[in-house]
Parts: sequence; C-alpha cells; structure tokens
Amino acid sequence: MKKPDSSLAQKTALDIKNVQKEIFELVNSASDIKLLEELKNKYLGRKGKINAISQNLPEIPVDKRKEIGQALNKLKTETETSIDNKFKTLSRASAETSEANKEKIDITLPGNPVNHAHKHPLTQITQEISKIFISLGFQTATGPDIESDYYNFEALNIPAEHPARDMHDTFYIKTDSQPDGPGTTLLRTHTSPVQIRVMEKFQPPVRIIVPGRVYRNEAIDATHSAVFHQIEGLAVDENITFADLKATLATFAKKMFGEKIAVRFRPSYFPFTEPSAEMDVRCIFCGGKGCKICKNLGWLETLGCGMVNPRVFDYVKYDREKYTGFAFGIGVERITMLKFGVDDVRLFYENDLRFLKQF
Ligand code: PHE
Repeated sequence: MKKPDSSLAQKTALDIKNVQKEIFELVNSASDIKLLEELKNKYLGRKGKINAISQNLPEIPVDKRKEIGQALNKLKTETETSIDNKFKTLSRASAETSEANKEKIDITLPGNPVNHAHKHPLTQITQEISKIFISLGFQTATGPDIESDYYNFEALNIPAEHPARDMHDTFYIKTDSQPDGPGTTLLRTHTSPVQIRVMEKFQPPVRIIVPGRVYRNEAIDATHSAVFHQIEGLAVDENITFADLKATLATFAKKMFGEKIAVRFRPSYFPFTEPSAEMDVRCIFCGGKGCKICKNLGWLETLGCGMVNPRVFDYVKYDREKYTGFAFGIGVERITMLKFGVDDVRLFYENDLRFLKQF
C-alpha cells in the first residue's frame, strides 16, 4: 500500500468540485438522448471519471478519507439523478414532436364538402300530390305491381278482346300454368286495379289515393317510359256527383299550380268510368297564349277521370242504386316535368347526378 498523501486529499476535493460543475453544465446543455448516454458512460461508467477519482481514496489520509468519500458518493448520486431527470425530459419532448409530426393539420385548408342526400324529383312530387289529397280527407292505399288479368282489366270493365286493351301494351309474365305467352299474370298497366282491391275489402265511404309504379311495353322516347308512376284516386259514397269530382280536382290544381290556375274538363273515354273526362290546366309556361310546350293549345293535359261505372260496382258487390263515386289517375312524370320544366322523361331514370342535383 502507498503512503498516505495529504496534498492528494486537497487535489481530490478540487477534482470533485470541478467534475460537479462540469457535469452540471454538460447535462444541462445536452440536447439529445444519445449525447446523454455518452455523458453517463463518461462519468458514471466503470472506466468513468467518478470511478477514476475514487481510485485515490485509499491513498488519502484516514482523517480526510471519510469526508472525501462522502463528497464522492454525493457527486455520484447527484450525477445519476440529474442524468435521469434530463433523460425523462428529453424523451417526453421527442415523443411530443413525433406525435405532432404525425398529425400535421393545416387549419387554413378549406373543409371537405359534405354532400347532402335529397329526394328524387319524382318522389318530391308524389309526396306533394299525396299531401294535397290527404288534406282533402283521402287516405293512402297500395297494391301489388304484379297483378292478375282480373284486377288489371276484367273487374275494371275491360273484358278479353275489348279494344281498350290495345291502349295498354302489357308485359305478361309467364307462369307454370301458362308457360308460353299471354297468361293471367302481368305487370299492372295502371294503378286502377287497387280500386278493385280496396272496394272488395271495405264498404263505402271510401276515399283513397294510390301512388305506385306502372308498366307498359312501349318504345321509349322523350315522353314515354316503359316504367312510370301514377297516383290513382277513388271516392265512393252516397250522393257523390260530377260536381264533387270537379271541385276536388280543381282544388288539387290550385294547390299544385297556384290559386289563379284555370282548369277545364274535356270528354274522354275509360271503360271503368262513365262519363269520363280529362282535366287540363291553363298552360303554366305561356299563360294560354300558345307555346312549344302546350303545342299552341294554351292548355296542358294533367289527368284522366270520371264517375265510377256502375258495372265496376257490380264486380265488387257494391249496391249500384245506393252508391256513386268518382275516380282519377294522375301521371306523376308528366306533372313533375311541368313543375320543374324537364323536357325528357328519360332523365328521371338515368341517375345522372348533374341532373338530380338540380332539385
Ligand atoms: N287508369 C287510367 C290510365 O291509366 C287513368 C284513370 C284512372 C282514368 C281513374 C279514369 C279514372 O289511363
């Protein structure tokens, strides 16, 4: 063992002080974790500065050794905690910056547009028409799109071979019992079969409207579609007259096209109504002067109507002496085209957003 050296005690105490100052400054200014790890090694490692100083201890005189040993221990623990604390601060900061990099939000960018869904123009008009008749005391009824010959024709006074069947180019459906050609199952050509279905089930008074899809085997053009929509109307009670029909449908026209609209009824023919009529409204585009849309007539056709033919009452076993009624059929596409100024019915079925977004 070497001889105790009292000047070594002084020198060691000074070393401790210097190292303490050194570490304080270095740890404070360390800017990244890698640097901090190097510092830890340099001072606290097995071959580090603090260990190197402690090599002196055995040679320091006993009376000083305790004091210096304690100072050295203090330096060691303080160095450990300050490196530890700095390590925590740096790793928290780096976690925050990487989080911030992940989520770069440019608050000056305009937002993504939100596209609201809305109702198809045909749905809008169907609902508008329905609302008017509901306000007049009508209730909504529905029936099947796939119908039998009986409901679509027979019970509506259109027997087989009746020339009125030519007006309805019918899609027939092949069934097991009738595998080839015209059978008793078909796609309804109008909403009128629901008149029969409702009258079979309910006794008068009846006041119903029937919105629905109908089908005709027709060539498609700007005014014809093989699939289109109607709203049927039926009112049956005691003492219903043609005046009730006129008042009800004129009220509908006013609510649909405005208070000032003029209407007229022209004689027409349907096998299930007698007498039959068609209702026109004054052209909403030219006011009656004559234009391309009303084909210079000054009037626009809107619907077919009439008093229920007593022969129809016979089919549903209503007392034809006691009850009278009126019926009407509105073409939804036609009204929608007039209301929105659309000139081609095919636009309603093509689902082109450039068209649909305009409504
Ligand atoms: N069903 C007839 C058609 O489609 C319209 C109509 C209904 C006429 C009710 C009179 C009464 O042409």
